[in-house]
Amino acid sequence: MDFLKDLALPQSLEHFHLVVLLAALSALVFIPYLSIALGTAVLSRRLSRDGREHGNAAALQLARTLAETTFASKSLIAFLGVIPGLSLVFSLAQILQRTASIAVTLAGFGFLFLFAGLSLLYAYRYTFRVQGLLEAYGALMRKHEGNIEGDIDSYRSSNLHAHVRFGTYGVICLFIAVYLYVAALSVSIDPALWSGAASIFSVLLTPIVWLRIGLFLAFAAAATGIGTLYIMFLWKRDELGEDEASAQLARRYGVLLAVAGLAVLPVFILLQLALLPGASLAGIVYGLAGLAVVLLFLAAHFLYAFIRNAIPASTAYALFFLLCGGATLVLSDYIALGYATRTHAETLAMVHTRATEELKASLGISAASATGEDIYNTRCSACHLFDKRKVGPPYQLTLPKYKDNKPGLMAFILNPVKIDPAYDPMPNQGLKPVEADSIASYLLTKVLGAPPAKP
Ligand code: HEC
Repeated sequence: MDFLKDLALPQSLEHFHLVVLLAALSALVFIPYLSIALGTAVLSRRLSRDGREHGNAAALQLARTLAETTFASKSLIAFLGVIPGLSLVFSLAQILQRTASIAVTLAGFGFLFLFAGLSLLYAYRYTFRVQGLLEAYGALMRKHEGNIEGDIDSYRSSNLHAHVRFGTYGVICLFIAVYLYVAALSVSIDPALWSGAASIFSVLLTPIVWLRIGLFLAFAAAATGIGTLYIMFLWKRDELGEDEASAQLARRYGVLLAVAGLAVLPVFILLQLALLPGASLAGIVYGLAGLAVVLLFLAAHFLYAFIRNAIPASTAYALFFLLCGGATLVLSDYIALGYATRTHAETLAMVHTRATEELKASLGISAASATGEDIYNTRCSACHLFDKRKVGPPYQLTLPKYKDNKPGLMAFILNPVKIDPAYDPMPNQGLKPVEADSIASYLLTKVLGAPPAKP
């Protein structure tokens, strides 16, 4: 997938920061959705199997509600999963252009699995409907004729077959997608892993990647657990009516997952902070991680309120604080990414300036000489004249020795050294290399090539 990096354009420093910001915004939508999608898919699949094996209608009902909420419609899946997932791939390609890093390849394959997984799970959700339809139809037919049972049965069994397959493969694809995306991000915040030598497999086995997968799964468990409680006790309460058995089941699984997830999350947060590469460490990364722990604690507090007093509204608060905690973690990751890519961003900005200049030159806008003249008028003419001594020596005397040595002239302008005892040393003018380049060209071509006529 390295072709993605070749598509990327060199960019200025501001643009680079903008891309990191956009990536963070996509991740703010994408990561929570991905975690809930994976969690509810696993839970729904499991409940559906239990329901079928033990003839447990409540489990089937809960499995269906979960699938129908998380994968409610194609546009929901597109806006929360596919589009932000794709834009993450492109922003990583833009951020990591000109590095040998395999992060973009990882994220690219991650996207393919994501797309496959979400499509399969959308189909999985659909099989619940078909099943319901077939059952209703079968019941109707039985009343009237009673002889097409065989047909219905064969439809039902092929639908069941599809149901099981879509669910299983969907979960597997989504899990692989999670793994690849997490690995991609871990690689991008650690410049030590950018070298070409790091093969996909060695990267996939590094401890930090596993730790982050653990963190993600713990968050997925907590989000799924609290999400299930929220769906069943608050959001869809009225729709589901008096389905006490499903509610009990939701309570059991929801509380179990939420408690387990919330209990291990802080451990994972601390461990991964300890393993963060030096390049991406900054006070704010620690600060945000601390804030995340506080938010998770608040989520746990409201979860406890729900368990104890069965107040449905506390599930909403718990979910809110949990998602805020997740968002804080995502932000701290992208700030770490910003720090890790600081030097790289400056290199890219240089490349960008050069490319712009080349473009201008090729278009015939001789940008270099125009800025060179500006610099001369504003920064140099105060001390230098062409033919007379001012504070500094006349260019007529000093420039000829640089006639075929533009780099030498640039070096002097960037970093003046003491030369002529008759003068004070020239103060450093604090120019950037590009500016020194244009003023040097300006002096050598304009001033030296065609000296102004003497008055
Ligand atoms: C504050 C006054 C001042 C300013 C502003 C200034 N210079 Fe100078 N410049 C000097 C002095 C003084 C010398 C002599 C230094 C020496 O001989 O040690 C000098 C020397 C030079 C020389 C001769 C170097 C050599 O090898 O003999 C060049 C070329 C030059 N300046 C270019 C520039 C350019 C280009 C700028 C504008 C970006 C600039 N200067 C701005 C004071 C200034």
